[in-house]
Amino acid sequence: MTKRDVRAKPNSMNKNILIVPGDGIGQEVTAVGKKVLDKVATKFGHTFTYDEALIGHVAIEATGNPLPEETLAKMRASDAVLFGAVGHPKYDNDPTAKVRPEQGLLKMRKELGLYANLRPIKLFDELLGASSIKPEILKGADILFFRELTGDIYFGEKGRKNNGDTAYDVAEYSRFEVERIARKAFDAARTRRKKVCSVDKANVLETSRLWREVVQKIALEYPDVEVEHQFVDSTAMMLIKDPTRFDVVVTANLFGDILTDEASQIAGSMGMLASASIGDGTGVYEPIHGSAHDITGKGVANPLASILSAALLLEISFGLKAESDVLINAVDGVLKAGFRTRDIADATTAPDKILGTEAMGNEVLSRI
Ligand code: IPM
Ligand code: MG
Repeated sequence: MTKRDVRAKPNSMNKNILIVPGDGIGQEVTAVGKKVLDKVATKFGHTFTYDEALIGHVAIEATGNPLPEETLAKMRASDAVLFGAVGHPKYDNDPTAKVRPEQGLLKMRKELGLYANLRPIKLFDELLGASSIKPEILKGADILFFRELTGDIYFGEKGRKNNGDTAYDVAEYSRFEVERIARKAFDAARTRRKKVCSVDKANVLETSRLWREVVQKIALEYPDVEVEHQFVDSTAMMLIKDPTRFDVVVTANLFGDILTDEASQIAGSMGMLASASIGDGTGVYEPIHGSAHDITGKGVANPLASILSAALLLEISFGLKAESDVLINAVDGVLKAGFRTRDIADATTAPDKILGTEAMGNEVLSRI
């Protein structure tokens, strides 16, 4: 054995993590996510090294490009990316803007081949009261969404015709794109309650008919998994009416975008939801909330989604399940101790338990 072998702790890892805070509260919450990753590394004897890169509005301001080549190169070279948010109200109110922060996000997804977006919707028991849905309906809800992320109407041909008076966005899916996301969903279902709900609009859309055909075929490879096909409109209704009936949900890019924002209300707040975008190479981990410029700079943003994104990063990209669980338990501990950020506080929360971003992060850090 060399000296190095003797000193190294068992299973200690050396990993490069790229921090990409992006815009608005992305900066504030990602700073907390990074601190938490660092504490985990120290605790478990791993060595994480960090670099930072620009995306979105801040990248446009600095370089004119929402996803500079340098950022993309750093992403490809890293072992995982902890991402914040992109967006700026300036563009939302200007539909004619040619360069937009969101283009950086979409290009990143396409370039890195991040075709599977995992959005776990799990309600911490302590937050039963924070949702606008009745507690007895919510209790036990635990859904894992697989949103397809590099196809559909997001990436099809788009444009204007008739002197700009007519606009179009083409929705397109190929068989292999549906196959690979469906397999991911069925594989995950096997580790859970063995149920997949595939969501489409096959009564109207040709892309949905291909989707359903392919999912039916893949389902044959998983006879132990129960599969159902639902239309997106009725799924939107059932998510609120009976959320516990769902286990794994797999759906197309646009439907997944909409349904997961809706489903965030099952978890009490958008501020609680983490996501993983995975595919061929480096995985990207980010809160599902946006840049929230209305609260940017006030230090009140909920950092728990970024912390839970860090937990997903540890588990999925690095295979560090114990480390990931430590983070989730720390978040649970903070909630059990009664601490809340503004977005998840309710009428019963004592004012001295309502914390800002940094203080909330410190409560989590102290429980790792
Ligand atoms: C999301 C966001 C993005 C999307 C926007 C910012 C382009 O809403 O990640 O859900 O529509 O995919
Ligand atoms: Mg969205």
